[in-house]
Amino acid sequence: MTAQPRRVEHLQTDKGNVPVYTTAVVEQPWAGYSSDDHATWAALFERQREVLVSRACREFIDNQQRFGMTPHAIPKFDELNRVLKAGTGWELIGVEGLLPELTFFDHLANRRFPVTWWIRRPDQIDYISEPDLFHDLFGHVPLLLNPMFADYMQAYGAGGVKAHGLGAEALVNLTRLYWYTVEFGLIRQDDGLRIYGSGIVSSKGESIHCLESAAPNRIGFDLHRIMRTRYRIDTYQKTYFVIDSFEQLMRATEPDFTPYYAELAAQPSIPAGSVLEGDKVYQHGTGEGWLQDGDV
Ligand code: PHE
Ligand code: CO
Repeated sequence: MTAQPRRVEHLQTDKGNVPVYTTAVVEQPWAGYSSDDHATWAALFERQREVLVSRACREFIDNQQRFGMTPHAIPKFDELNRVLKAGTGWELIGVEGLLPELTFFDHLANRRFPVTWWIRRPDQIDYISEPDLFHDLFGHVPLLLNPMFADYMQAYGAGGVKAHGLGAEALVNLTRLYWYTVEFGLIRQDDGLRIYGSGIVSSKGESIHCLESAAPNRIGFDLHRIMRTRYRIDTYQKTYFVIDSFEQLMRATEPDFTPYYAELAAQPSIPAGSVLEGDKVYQHGTGEGWLQDGDV
């Protein structure tokens, strides 16, 4: 048994918000959740389930059902793990907050998905600057039951370990891929564009914005283009990339990226809101309401 896990959040310093990293793997202190914690889970769960009807992709909705998550209480990692291990061999592990990159990649490469044990406070219902239990469980876990996506996540982890050894620039390129797929990806399905990105499904505002707002660009998936594209961490995305299928994502990312990183190093990065010649444009955004600077 581990000691009571810590709740590791960013620190407010004279340099602004600074992320804090932690490597501990912890037991979920389920009996320690307060009634506020369970109520936060319930409020977010019910709100998002409603928002995501005909917005989230069918794989997300179907797999979330299979876990049997309910609004009544924060799920127990052990119970989710029974379903997950039998389904795709993935396992959830409890963590205290953000992990250093290499630690994170190593977990993914071994089919372990780190889940923050603590949930946001009631005053953070609409926005929190770092992943909490709601984002990690509600947002990421459903698609880990999809065999193709499960393999993609593991391959991403292995690719991350490799990129880490190649240097900081390769990691920047690879991180953009994670951002624009796993976190903020859209998928084209028979009935229209749908959400699969975890950063979107765990946010009411962005779930509506990414599909219904005229402001953002919606552009067809292009691996090299994505790895050159900067992104926003503090506002809704200016651009969403649309895959046709999880198979397309898998196929495009199968090759060894080592030569890609070398090519990309010679090319300038692309601002988050640009549309380029050659882009497959589903929707050229109006850019309305965009802030000017701040792409990472
Ligand atoms: N094929 C990639 C590489 O060689 C690994 C990877 C797979 C990266 C899937 C991202 C997603 O680096
Ligand atoms: Co996430």
